[in-house]
Amino acid sequence: MNNIELIDKLNHEGELDFDEFKQLLSTYNQEDFTYAKETAAKITKQIFSNKIYIRGLIEISSYCKNDCYYCGLRKSNLNALRYRLSKEEILLSCKEGYKLGFRTFVLQGGEDLYYQDDLMVDIIKSIRTLYPDCAITLSLGEKSKETYQKYYDAGANRYLLRHETYNEDHYYMLHPQEMSFKQRIECLHHLKEIGFQTGCGFMVGSYHQTIDHLVNDLLFIKKLKPEMVGIGPYMVHHDTPFKDLKNGDLKLTLFLLSLIRIMTKDVLLPSTTALATLDPKGRIEGIKHGCNVVMPNLSPNEVRKKYLLYDNKASSGQEASEGLKELVDTLSKEGYEIVYQRGDYCKFDYKG
Ligand code: 5AD
Repeated sequence: MNNIELIDKLNHEGELDFDEFKQLLSTYNQEDFTYAKETAAKITKQIFSNKIYIRGLIEISSYCKNDCYYCGLRKSNLNALRYRLSKEEILLSCKEGYKLGFRTFVLQGGEDLYYQDDLMVDIIKSIRTLYPDCAITLSLGEKSKETYQKYYDAGANRYLLRHETYNEDHYYMLHPQEMSFKQRIECLHHLKEIGFQTGCGFMVGSYHQTIDHLVNDLLFIKKLKPEMVGIGPYMVHHDTPFKDLKNGDLKLTLFLLSLIRIMTKDVLLPSTTALATLDPKGRIEGIKHGCNVVMPNLSPNEVRKKYLLYDNKASSGQEASEGLKELVDTLSKEGYEIVYQRGDYCKFDYKG
């Protein structure tokens, strides 16, 4: 089969086998790339019309107990500026966000042990009580199933935990031995079992990533059936062991976004900050290749420059909640409309 036929097969059957994905990723040309983009755009349009969901991202802590080799917030980075938001500060961010129209709050942070279960549950319950019409998304890393259950019972709806890579050897090239590949995957299963709308994902162009790894990432997404998928390019941070690597590739990231849309159809797929940082047109290109979510930054202004996963991380302009109008304008020029609903995952029976 040629690559165009493989893209059609992925569209109609919702899957490809290992060798087919491998062929597609290792031999795609400009025509295949464009065909994948158009196919993804058609699916996105049919399911979501021209609507883009918006989420307010609150980066609650830059402390992290982990030491991931790629991340600027790794605990060994003594130059990282650390902060954590209090419950009051988080609620204030939600208040700001609510006024701006956001109906999903994403609480993201390093794995910071300061937020013990009782405190986190208190924060989640408070947001749930104050904003009963809003969705609460968490992105706080690996926790026990009991803790995830407490978060859920307190009123959280969604959880993002990128698997980072579905190859065990590759996992330990990106993470120290103290971390556990098995545990990470187990966490994702726990989240699904509890009933969270669950998001997994990976970086494109991470250290020693091969086409085979990417194929396994796609096959894992197919198997897990997440409600959300987060992917973006790997971006260099100068204070990490990976400081001499190159940023991930824009085109490959966009191609993968299209393939994920074509394979999963109705998944919630953000056009990420990393993509917007890599290229000035990154965010809009992501949307044209199948993304349907954007997540502007709602964190208090004074902490934004401290949450640096990678160098030059965009946190102003259209990346920030104050730049919302600019973002709305940019998207509407391209024919997209930002919608302010919760934007929960909704199963769609796509008939092609
Ligand atoms: N480049 C791109 N993405 C990164 N992340 C962490 N560090 C980097 C980096 N240097 C991503 C990881 C993590 C998410 C919160 O941010 O995939 O899961």
